[in-house]
Amino acid sequence: MSTSIPITRISQSRLTKALRENSEFGATFSDHMLVADWEGGSWKQPLIVPFGPLSFSPALTPFHYGQAIFEGFKAHRIPNGGMALFRPRENFVRLNRSAARLAMPEIPEALFLGGVTELVRLDRTWIPHREGGALYVRPTYFGVDDTLLVRPANRFRLIVMTCPVGPYFAQPIRLLAEERFVRAFPGGTGDSKAAGNYAGGLLAARLAQEKGFHNVLWLDGVERRYVEESGVMNVFFVLDGKAITPPLAGTILPGVTRDSALTLLREMGIPVEERQISIDEVLSAHAAGKLTEAFGAGTAAIVAPIACIHYRERDLQFPSVSNSSVAARLRARLVAIQTGRDPDTHKWLMLI
Ligand SMILES: Cc1ncc(COP(=O)(O)O)c(C=O)c1O
Repeated sequence: MSTSIPITRISQSRLTKALRENSEFGATFSDHMLVADWEGGSWKQPLIVPFGPLSFSPALTPFHYGQAIFEGFKAHRIPNGGMALFRPRENFVRLNRSAARLAMPEIPEALFLGGVTELVRLDRTWIPHREGGALYVRPTYFGVDDTLLVRPANRFRLIVMTCPVGPYFAQPIRLLAEERFVRAFPGGTGDSKAAGNYAGGLLAARLAQEKGFHNVLWLDGVERRYVEESGVMNVFFVLDGKAITPPLAGTILPGVTRDSALTLLREMGIPVEERQISIDEVLSAHAAGKLTEAFGAGTAAIVAPIACIHYRERDLQFPSVSNSSVAARLRARLVAIQTGRDPDTHKWLMLI
């Protein structure tokens, strides 16, 4: 991978052990960031510079028309002092799929993966040592026109920043099945990692949080009947011993963790089904004692057990997690692969 990116180093690192090990998710940034611009039909030389504020026109494209997408994946410490990115190519491919959907230019693989590799190598001392800790890599890509004309921008910027993080949720989560607001609909941008998808979900999440839930469980935008996903995770149900997750039919994000979980669950001997599951089926299976677990899967959340789903004045409670639960076993296996403690049989790690 290219190592020819010009680097302007920070004069003095801001790193402390407390920042590295105890920061709230996404609140602390490492010393450097990658910046790459697209203009006049081509990508310019990417640069690595100290992390810090940028200056933009008030007419900047994403401020008005939301032409902005992003990604998220992690670098972990592995034994013998090494470090590894988990499936960064999948995020690269998804970023370009989102870019195509939002009428943005394609990003070359060497620019993206080469730039990320350089950046993480440079700021490797920021990777947490604690169990469940990682350096979260956050690429963001947006138009940088300064015109109020509604059209795809003529200039674009890719920025990659990194944050030392722990797991997003500290405890099993409580979700509110959302009937009033929807996240996505057929033909929309639900399967892209578009910034606007998240903006549209903030009110529902805040209202759910005011009622004591961690987030919402989105239902489909047409019938408000089929489970889709949660705020930052895909969801799985363990029903009759099988793991069921909604299909990738254009309205949910094709999660890299979801895909990894499907592979690992099969290897664990747990049959998997990618199929629609209605909230009514969730209710009736729960009442019949067939629905034994529900959990979320995502880069930030890793594998997050769901303690409760609230729907129409009813609380579906799930038993507390034990070491033998599917979620706990899946999480342990995934983290063991990510941190190089289990063999990387699927070639998911990019060693850096
Ligand atoms: C809406 C949404 N769904 C699912 C996911 C899980 O995707 P991944 O496993 O690639 O992180 C995320 C997080 O990126 C998300 O924001």
